[in-house]
Amino acid sequence: MNLLEVKNLDIDYVTKEGNLKVVRDVSFTLKQGESVGLVGESGCGKTTLAKTIMRLLPDNGVISGGEINYKGENIVTKNKEEIRKLRLNEIAMISQSAMNSLNPVYTVGEQIIEGIRSHTNMSKKEAIKRAEEVFAIIGLEKKRLKSYPHQMSGGMKQRAIIAMALSLNPSLIIADEPTTALDVVVQDKILSQITEIQKQTKSSMIFITHDISIISELCETIIVMYGGKIMEKSSSKVFFKAPYHPYSLGLQNAFPSILDIDKGDLISIPGAPPNLMGELKGCRFKERCPFRTDKCMEELPELKEIGEDHQIACHYPERVDEFREESKKKETWQMVSDRIINESKGDA
Ligand SMILES: Nc1ncnc2c1ncn2[C@@H]1O[C@H](COP(=O)(O)OP(=O)(O)OP(=O)(O)O)[C@@H](O)[C@H]1O
Ligand SMILES: [Mg+2]
Repeated sequence: MNLLEVKNLDIDYVTKEGNLKVVRDVSFTLKQGESVGLVGESGCGKTTLAKTIMRLLPDNGVISGGEINYKGENIVTKNKEEIRKLRLNEIAMISQSAMNSLNPVYTVGEQIIEGIRSHTNMSKKEAIKRAEEVFAIIGLEKKRLKSYPHQMSGGMKQRAIIAMALSLNPSLIIADEPTTALDVVVQDKILSQITEIQKQTKSSMIFITHDISIISELCETIIVMYGGKIMEKSSSKVFFKAPYHPYSLGLQNAFPSILDIDKGDLISIPGAPPNLMGELKGCRFKERCPFRTDKCMEELPELKEIGEDHQIACHYPERVDEFREESKKKETWQMVSDRIINESKGDA
């Protein structure tokens, strides 16, 4: 059985201007012990999806369709108390700015021990022992449990948060850009510790980042999102050798270090993600895709199987060789940039 099955999930934010269709028809599964990387540009709905799985959407967030089955039960229909038990015990989240959520008035140890005790029947002594264990795993000395947040560096605080998330042996860890606020060296170290822990505890993980190069080392599966939809889903092994979707090919140019591309030729995808308000027609990537046709302007491409454990949402999977060749050229993306400028003049 899958640990997690997200099925045709739709999420909206209700705003004064109308509904923002922030996630649409997202489906994926996660087996026990499997790690999946969720990537995509800022605003594509990654955090929204993560918060929804934790049922932590803000008040104006609405699950407008689909299911989230966790250990075979649909958590979309669970009540607040059932969800509270699920959090931390079963599913733990390490968020983008988690280190700022530590309470300055209490020591870090007090906060972790309180977290453990409010979710288990552990005695204070047992909880202290567990806190010391998780501190050791994440590379913090146990005397640090007595520190107040202001006595710790950013890297230490983020480690403490990760320790807190792991203290109850969750089956699923959702890490939403857990190291973005830290410098690169600390980032690398923490990332390898997280992977180590995940392997040791056989937890599953959803790892969210906008940097696809991190995923190649960390996750078995990659999901590329754009404008609230899945564009490509693949085993990392296959993806990092040969991505398929035009958007993935564009992302690949922006992160050449993991692929055999000349580093001198960093090309970013011109334009910006689509506005998710109002009616959305055709492919979400159409404004920025160098290969779009009339069909892409009108018809939404469904996510289709193109190989074992490999799916893409593009009308033209058979043209992949041509797309791969063309997407390596600067002129290809320059054409998109010119087209966007021309179209905006037309709108003015
Ligand atoms: N409470 C809210 N009300 C209305 N719109 C929101 C709300 N929260 C987020 N959004 C919008 O929803 C979209 C998706 O946001 P989300 O935070 O899920 O993106 P993300 O992929 O995590 O981006 P980032 O990489 O910057 O963290 C964005 O356009 C954002 O502005
Ligand atoms: Mg986010």
